[in-house]
Amino acid sequence: MCGIVGYIGSKNCIPVILGGLKRLEYRGYDSAGVGVLLNGVSKIVKNKGKVSLLEKKLEADKIESTIGIGHTRWATHGEPNEINAHPHANQDGTLFLIHNGIIENYQTLKKQLRHEGYTFRSDTDSEVIIHLIESFMKKGNAFQKSVRLALSEVDGTYGLAIINSKEPDRIIAARKGSPLVIGVGEKENYIASDVSALIAHTKNIVYVEDGEIVEVYADKFVAKTILDEDIEKDVIEVSMTLEEIDKGGHPTFMIKEIMEQHESVFNSMRGRLIMDEGTAKLGGLDTVVDRLAASKRIVISACGTSWHAALVGEYMFEQFLRIPTEVEYASEFRYRNPIIQPDDTIIFISQSGETADTLAALREAKRKRALCLGVCNVVGSSVARESDAGVYIHAGPEIGVASTKAFTGQLVVLALITLLVARKRDLSLADGKKIVEEFNSIPDKIRKILELNDQIERIANDFKNAKNFLYLGRGYNFPVALEGALKLKEISYIHAEGYPAAEMKHGPIALVDENMPVVFIAPKDSTYDKIISNIEEIRARKGKIIAIANENDSEIDRLADYTVKIPETIRMLMPILTVIPLQLLAYHVAVKKGLNVDQPRNLAKSVTVE
Ligand code: G6P
Repeated sequence: MCGIVGYIGSKNCIPVILGGLKRLEYRGYDSAGVGVLLNGVSKIVKNKGKVSLLEKKLEADKIESTIGIGHTRWATHGEPNEINAHPHANQDGTLFLIHNGIIENYQTLKKQLRHEGYTFRSDTDSEVIIHLIESFMKKGNAFQKSVRLALSEVDGTYGLAIINSKEPDRIIAARKGSPLVIGVGEKENYIASDVSALIAHTKNIVYVEDGEIVEVYADKFVAKTILDEDIEKDVIEVSMTLEEIDKGGHPTFMIKEIMEQHESVFNSMRGRLIMDEGTAKLGGLDTVVDRLAASKRIVISACGTSWHAALVGEYMFEQFLRIPTEVEYASEFRYRNPIIQPDDTIIFISQSGETADTLAALREAKRKRALCLGVCNVVGSSVARESDAGVYIHAGPEIGVASTKAFTGQLVVLALITLLVARKRDLSLADGKKIVEEFNSIPDKIRKILELNDQIERIANDFKNAKNFLYLGRGYNFPVALEGALKLKEISYIHAEGYPAAEMKHGPIALVDENMPVVFIAPKDSTYDKIISNIEEIRARKGKIIAIANENDSEIDRLADYTVKIPETIRMLMPILTVIPLQLLAYHVAVKKGLNVDQPRNLAKSVTVE
């Protein structure tokens, strides 16, 4: 999961490519490079580290060109260094390639190419592609045909772009399994991994599909399938704005995204609640809602934070729909020949809609004819396009690598689906209306929680040097404990575990001493008394207790070392509130440790490799 950008037109491509790469750094940031064609001469500049370092190098070089490609890398094959950074060139430096994805048969191809006399400079899998293209060109094939022939020998995934100094009028781009879009401008065109890289220049976007190869010229583009069939592509006008993907005065994207959750959650539910009927309206499910309501089983499949949202969804569906629900890691689901019946509904949750495992699981479930629904944030993403139907969370672009507002948006959408389907089954009008009423109060409650930012920052200060953390919750708040622990791990590099509070007695309690901070998610619900007992158990072993509790709870002050008091709501919606203090806690701990919260080490926002 790297980021790729390309430009062809009459402007200098360097600022366009650098601007685009900076927007794509969420996809990887261990090395970066650009390749340009300058009047028949070609040049590559690349280095280890972030795009800003590449920018400095380019400033010193004073390069200008009207055609170029750029890449920001998240290493899979070969360590992050300058040699392994993209673009990769052919033997005589006339062809440049940038690639996002994994070439699974690269060892075989490498052996074959070495045999033909090709020498390899990097340890990457990507480099085989450019030599393979050259080998086809040397056999007398045209540039586009050689790309096509090379790609038909490649197993694996790619979103890639190639330029050729002997034919500097075009960029050739192709996709299989890794995202790719074309931006259409006035006598200039762009390619990129996603729309955010191009939005400063154009809103006219073409989504390239798997198995397509596109020749992008300054004034046109020609799309074909990998089998050389002509195809017509639609140009779609996207609504994303530049302001939506800027930091808006905040020091980091992550804090911006945490602090705007009262708005993003409102946007996730806007226009979707019908008070009079005590139900929800989700246009994307209109054609399938009866089939969904009649499902014998629901499976929710996802990765990372989206998987935690799926776990909350399981509680919602089983409580209100009484349909057996299972949650599956997408990566596990797809490889074990899952039992899927035609009357199953499989819901795929993915912020990006591009996570390779989630997409592969979706394709597997579609093959087995289940009803496949997508819950995505990125409009037009692969999961969204390939599902039978779905619901967008409308949280706005999420740039911080650690997911925050997408998680709360996912919870809102899962709760809306629950309400809609429960009313089709046996939820009464009165109960439906109560849920709608509670929904409507959520954005204001989030606003109140965000006002606790300073208090949570002080707590973070006391624990910034902790080596371990335990997060405990019960019922609906068990997945929130997992998510709180994940947030801390991701950005502060502190080891943290989330556990069901009662299960803690079967292992993690052995870790508890006076140095162990234990975060309890303890709202006043039916599990409250039990969780109070669990708090007592930790207190008896001198663990430091941080409790997320309700505003009217005075009992907990006696037991906890720190309490964060948040408003009450119904159980189903509680995770939308309880997770926010945990996001803030992780954020402040990481900032106090001096870490880069938007781009934590080794992680990427969108994992488009398996
Ligand atoms: C990566 C990100 C996580 C995200 C997960 C799933 O690991 O760092 O924040 O939760 O991928 O991504 P998705 O886009 O499918 O929700």
